Amino acid sequence: MTEKMKPAARVSGRRQDVWTIINEAAAASPKQPIVNMGQGFFGYNPPDFILDAAKDALNRVDCNQYSPTKGRPRLRKAISEAYAPFWGRKLDPETEITITTGANEGMLSAFMAFIEPGDEVIIFEPFFDQYISNIEMPGGKIVYVPMHPPKEGAVKTLSAGEWTIDFDELERAITPRTKMMVLNTPHNPIGKVFSREELQKIADLCLKHQIIILSDEVYDRLFYVPFTRIATLSPEVEQITLTVGSAGKNFYATGWRVGWLMGPPHLIQYVSAAHTRICYSSVSPLQEACAIGFEQADAHSFWPTSIASLRHKLTLFNSVWHELGIPYSEPEGGYFVMVNLSGVEIPADYPFPPHVAERPRDFRLAWFLIQELGVAAIPPSEFCTDENSHLVEDYLRFAVCKPDEVLEDAKERLRGLKPFLKKKD
Ligand SMILES: Cc1ncc(COP(=O)(O)O)c(C=O)c1O
Repeated sequence: MTEKMKPAARVSGRRQDVWTIINEAAAASPKQPIVNMGQGFFGYNPPDFILDAAKDALNRVDCNQYSPTKGRPRLRKAISEAYAPFWGRKLDPETEITITTGANEGMLSAFMAFIEPGDEVIIFEPFFDQYISNIEMPGGKIVYVPMHPPKEGAVKTLSAGEWTIDFDELERAITPRTKMMVLNTPHNPIGKVFSREELQKIADLCLKHQIIILSDEVYDRLFYVPFTRIATLSPEVEQITLTVGSAGKNFYATGWRVGWLMGPPHLIQYVSAAHTRICYSSVSPLQEACAIGFEQADAHSFWPTSIASLRHKLTLFNSVWHELGIPYSEPEGGYFVMVNLSGVEIPADYPFPPHVAERPRDFRLAWFLIQELGVAAIPPSEFCTDENSHLVEDYLRFAVCKPDEVLEDAKERLRGLKPFLKKKD
């Protein structure tokens, strides 16, 4: 290949990513078909009222053409109304809401809007992996702050809320170049919902140092403990906060790629400007369907049903860990569960391919589960720096947004872990 044909460093030279490793392992497993609890996609459809809205939208001429770059007015209005109970007022659909191609492109737009080369962005690890390239593309420098697992996480099932931030460590990470801080609540992969007190401490630091808060709240409709939105702490905090939402997560439609950012006009206008240059506008018929989703959600009791459904799935699936005496972090929100498998003894001579053998123990655990039991889960050290991968290397992340039969099948297979469990004294 000639020099000029070489790809840019931002897409080349990365080690094999977790999705490739896990999918490859799944394809090579003797236990076919695999139960895939790895990636967080739903194993079932959005409810009929939303699906029907999408089908109807496809029959409308205007819904098959470009939408305004800031998003379809009907969707922005629907979001403004749906979020009014949390904000205590209706956000202005013209200036305080912008629609994006999924939360991911929304966050890329936010970084593109505010980050100049060398600006620093603080993220907590484990992190959602897309943040990294989204920050690096405009030249941002990432500063990592770890979330600390509960000390007894290897021996006891504890609330995911017990994963904590060391606020002195967080303040030490702030420099005059810190431009943004990314928060994720409810958290993927941990399942933690940040408490009001924790959010207040984060907000106080960001106000003191004039840092933009990017609050990734894509799991905002799935919480099992009280959930506070950081933007609503005070009018001052609202002024420095961009809140991210995802119709994919809200309506079980991750493939629709509809997301949004909410925030004050002086921030939102630049996110919209970046979004215009990245992809101009987002999928029209599905924006319309999402608008109808928000408009009709209450009439269908969709939000409480959604919480009850995912909570039921968590309880159903996690009962297998109780049976096996394996501890996990009890999720406070979202649909992922982090399970501590330090008690699983992988045979010393187990054959791992070199690209798995060289990664932290959670990669070997994930490979082992796929090969021996036919259950795929995600090794969370992929969402950490090498320096901090030890914090999560005994854990695997399971996504429970799957039909109940799939969860039952997974449980049956996971019972196959029994012979590999270390004897307890
Ligand atoms: C924490 C977090 N943020 C953002 C996203 C991306 O959301 P979207 O599919 O709307 O781009 C995900 C998807 O898994 C996620 O887990």
